[in-house]
Amino acid sequence: MPLYKKYVYKLSSEEFYGLLVDITSGVEVLSEGESYVEFALYEPIQGLEPLEVLEVEVIPPERAFKPVRVKSLLVVPNWIKPIVIRQGSAFGTGLHPTTQLCLDLIQDFFQEGWSAVDVGTGTGVLAMALKKLGAGRVVAIDKDPVAVEECRHNTKENCLEVECLLAGPEEVTDSFDLLVANLDLGIFRKEIENLLKLFRRVGVFSGIYGKDELESFLSLLRGLKPAKIKRRKNWYGVVVLG
Ligand SMILES: C[S@@+](CC[C@H](N)C(=O)[O-])C[C@H]1O[C@@H](n2cnc3c(N)ncnc32)[C@H](O)[C@@H]1O
Repeated sequence: MPLYKKYVYKLSSEEFYGLLVDITSGVEVLSEGESYVEFALYEPIQGLEPLEVLEVEVIPPERAFKPVRVKSLLVVPNWIKPIVIRQGSAFGTGLHPTTQLCLDLIQDFFQEGWSAVDVGTGTGVLAMALKKLGAGRVVAIDKDPVAVEECRHNTKENCLEVECLLAGPEEVTDSFDLLVANLDLGIFRKEIENLLKLFRRVGVFSGIYGKDELESFLSLLRGLKPAKIKRRKNWYGVVVLG
């Protein structure tokens, strides 16, 4: 990997923000105090002596350009895929480890253009994530009418086409490339046969707490081998291939 020169500078806040008007290339803020800013660039600033010049490998853009929030406005780089959620009464703000496991695992296995079903959609967060990742048809189902209403509201606000339906997995007759189901062990025990029928390629399951629940969940799969198991704060996400 080629090495790049990284020029590190330290200026007073006033000087830095004055200078920023003229800098068009990416600036990485390294640290910021009350009255100073330490920052780095990949080209030298004419007439200014750097604190140090480092030789570094290419920095991925996500490390250099971070989202910036000012009061109610959030400026994000274009490789981030934002999902807007109304604070309503359905589960799925993205804060819970089980939701995060699904968001993580679908990014490892999902392929653009696939169809997907989100069972127990809550706010619709996972269905919207799949759409943002380039899914074709996405169906989001929930047994709670409040969740379906939240899903409809959120998908509309995000301008995403998702079919939000009041239904359980037993009522869906189609089959999809990917299934995501963030439920719980009790529901998996009752619904596993219906859930396994809903996907052809990848099933992402979450809502499994602790090792005992994980073992119980795996025993429901009747011989299907998990392709990946991931843990977050003692919650588990499991990926099964169809
Ligand atoms: C833990 S929340 C997950 C919400 C969202 N998908 C997420 O990952 O943040 C589980 C959701 O499943 C719904 N649910 C529970 N049992 C269900 C079933 N048998 N069929 C469909 N949805 C169900 C609940 O109403 C709830 O909205």
